[in-house]
Amino acid sequence: FGRALRTLKTVDSTQMVAHQWAQEGAPEGAAVISEEQTAGRGRLGRSWHSPPGSGIWMSLILRPPIPIARAPQLTLMASVGITRALQRETCLPVRIKWPNDLLIRDKKVCGILTELRGEQDRVHYVVLGAGINVNIGVEAWPPDLREKVTSLSTEAGRTFRRSPLIAAILEELEKIYEQYLHQGFSTIRKEWERLSGILGRPVTARNPDGEMTGIARGLNEDGALLLETEGGLTPVYSAEISAGCE
Ligand code: BTN
Repeated sequence: FGRALRTLKTVDSTQMVAHQWAQEGAPEGAAVISEEQTAGRGRLGRSWHSPPGSGIWMSLILRPPIPIARAPQLTLMASVGITRALQRETCLPVRIKWPNDLLIRDKKVCGILTELRGEQDRVHYVVLGAGINVNIGVEAWPPDLREKVTSLSTEAGRTFRRSPLIAAILEELEKIYEQYLHQGFSTIRKEWERLSGILGRPVTARNPDGEMTGIARGLNEDGALLLETEGGLTPVYSAEISAGCE
């Protein structure tokens, strides 16, 4: 991954550049990385704070031969790949929070945004976006976010060079994508479950249909989170998760 690479100083969002490039025929594994984003996008229409030079703001193009229904597995796959890379390079205790956040000591250090275009029920291409807070002091975030976010430098007490981190992330993503294509999702699911900080914990899942509290028990083959509730084991396909007692 990253052999086809566009590095930018500033851009509105690397997602938009990657979509454009994918439509023009970018090869699988092509990556767009910018030092700064002026309109970084998060999940659910939120914005993503991406100040210059202090994070890794990256979008990767994938062309997996899978039906659209299996696309949520890619976000989980990416969470495991990026966790492997960050643990390897920083030795920090990175954990995965379903579906797409990486946390250190319960604070968010990385967000993943998977956007796809498909035809009928097949995936045409996927833009996998990752934002990793590398050298950012907590004061850089608006006050209401400071309790919830962190950066590698804040947690480690030292700064990190971005390029070895980028190389490790691209390498681990390529490795895990090969694993996904050749061995399927189940081996990745097991590793996800090990790296997840929420299994066995009571959580509340909120989505536009309402909310549900239960004990997080794992993932099903589709990548849905399984919550154990009074009604039995219930798959949650899309929601925001918080610890049950919050
Ligand atoms: C989230 O947690 O809400 C997902 C955040 C994803 C942010 C990354 S930064 C690189 C790429 N470009 C964007 O505009 N968003 C993603």
